Amino acid sequence: MKREKKPSTAVVPCPVVLLSVKGPERPNIITLSWVANVCSKSPTVVVGIRPERHSHAMVKEAGEFVLNIPSTSQFEASVFAGTRSGKDHDKFAECNLTPSKATKVDAPMIEECPISIECRTKEIHSLGAHDLFVAEVLAVHIDDSLLDEHGRFDAAKASLFTYLPLSAEYWALGEQME
Ligand SMILES: Cc1cc2nc3c(=O)[nH]c(=O)nc-3n(C[C@H](O)[C@H](O)[C@H](O)COP(=O)(O)O)c2cc1C
Repeated sequence: MKREKKPSTAVVPCPVVLLSVKGPERPNIITLSWVANVCSKSPTVVVGIRPERHSHAMVKEAGEFVLNIPSTSQFEASVFAGTRSGKDHDKFAECNLTPSKATKVDAPMIEECPISIECRTKEIHSLGAHDLFVAEVLAVHIDDSLLDEHGRFDAAKASLFTYLPLSAEYWALGEQME
């Protein structure tokens, strides 16, 4: 038997992603969970950002951004970037994160994150509380130490984690199933 609950964002688990973007004064980082791969060819992602977020105007204005996937080593930084505003904080400096140059877009990558995905916005849709940014993936960077001899991603070494909005909890990824 299941208990019916009111409508909510109940898809779990969710990614935790650090979106980095250039800005007029300094670059910024915003933590996002409303993020998904939505098309394989051309590789396309969507992100949902509330219009009132400081980052929203930056992402809209720049038209380009980087999605950085943190490992558990960047957990505290992910919480910080998701609870403080770039209006009042230099999140790169305060989280001890290093901006590095992307190859295809004018936005900083986060050096410490094991995966960085360069994106260019193609469409923006207003959905209500959040605006949906549809973006094409222009390049993917993966830490060398996480690639095996065939260039395949070694998830066991990556120490990734996930967010569950139903219980507002973070969980580290466990064992491989297959
Ligand atoms: C785990 C987590 C996930 C989040 N996901 C989103 C999201 O998908 N969209 C959004 O607009 N805000 C999201 N937030 C909230 C923003 O990260 C937060 O409001 C942040 O402080 C905004 O930064 P800014 O003012 O520099 O833009 C999330 C926060 C956390 C901690």
